[in-house]
Amino acid sequence: MPLLHLRKMMYTTVIAALCLGATTQAGIVPRQAASGSGPYPASYSTDTGLAGQTIFMPNAIPADVKLPVIIWGVGGCSDSGTNTAEFHQELASHGFLVIVNNGPTARTQTVAASLTTAADWAGKVAGSGKYANVDKSRIAVGGWSCGGLQAYAVASDPRWVTIGIFSSGQLDATQSVPVVGKITKPIFYFLGGSGDPAQAPGTRDYGNLPKTTPAWIGTNNKGHAHAGTTGTFTAPSIKTAAVHWAQWLLRGNTTAATYFTSNAEATQAGWTGISSQNLDKIIVTPI
Ligand SMILES: *[C@@H]1O[C@H](CO)[C@@H](O)[C@H](O)[C@H]1NC(C)=O
Repeated sequence: MPLLHLRKMMYTTVIAALCLGATTQAGIVPRQAASGSGPYPASYSTDTGLAGQTIFMPNAIPADVKLPVIIWGVGGCSDSGTNTAEFHQELASHGFLVIVNNGPTARTQTVAASLTTAADWAGKVAGSGKYANVDKSRIAVGGWSCGGLQAYAVASDPRWVTIGIFSSGQLDATQSVPVVGKITKPIFYFLGGSGDPAQAPGTRDYGNLPKTTPAWIGTNNKGHAHAGTTGTFTAPSIKTAAVHWAQWLLRGNTTAATYFTSNAEATQAGWTGISSQNLDKIIVTPI
């Protein structure tokens, strides 16, 4: 698909121009200092059954706690699997298995099909060994920038419970409707403020979703990727928003839902431009 490739190239260029996502790379094996603020301290590992991807999960999990799955496309479609490690550890520490579609230190070009491969793998290992608690019926897909476009590319996979678009959107306006016009699963847009090159494209995509699709959009420049200064999702505002998204959509936590349905907390955390549709149609059995 040359057009998709072109759009990836454009985001890659944009990211390179902003020097985002490149600060913690250089082939250095990252330390696993942060373990997340949730109840289950988490770290990352790899699995020979899932080559070229990085797996974040709780170090220990009570037998009765299920682990839904979050599958993530890396920024630039080439960042390492640990470039945004703190963000993924935070999610995992709240009881999720997070699969990131590049190796811990790899800077190789990723493909959208790796998100599908990750879901296949999770489906296969769920229920046994160290993955005994994994719940393969609750899988989210998402990604940052170019990785968000990869999530779009596989959006029709019926296994997704929800889609998370983080600082991403179709740069080519003529491709917005073709790409998002048939998305039916609840989709959440987390954009990075007016300095984020994905701000306008992501907002346009949101507007082109089917009117019946549950969706939420907000934008925040506090250290969010593509804006601010860090670009690796370490700001509390983005970590907290993503955790609430996962707690609601994948664990059925209705307390977490209020972050999006009342917006008081989100607004206090600096989210602006908030809009939503059909959130009342999101019904998740709590686990
Ligand atoms: C539900 O979400 C809220 C808000 O994030 C959190 O404080 C609470 O611990 C969660 N409950 C469970 C059972 O995970």
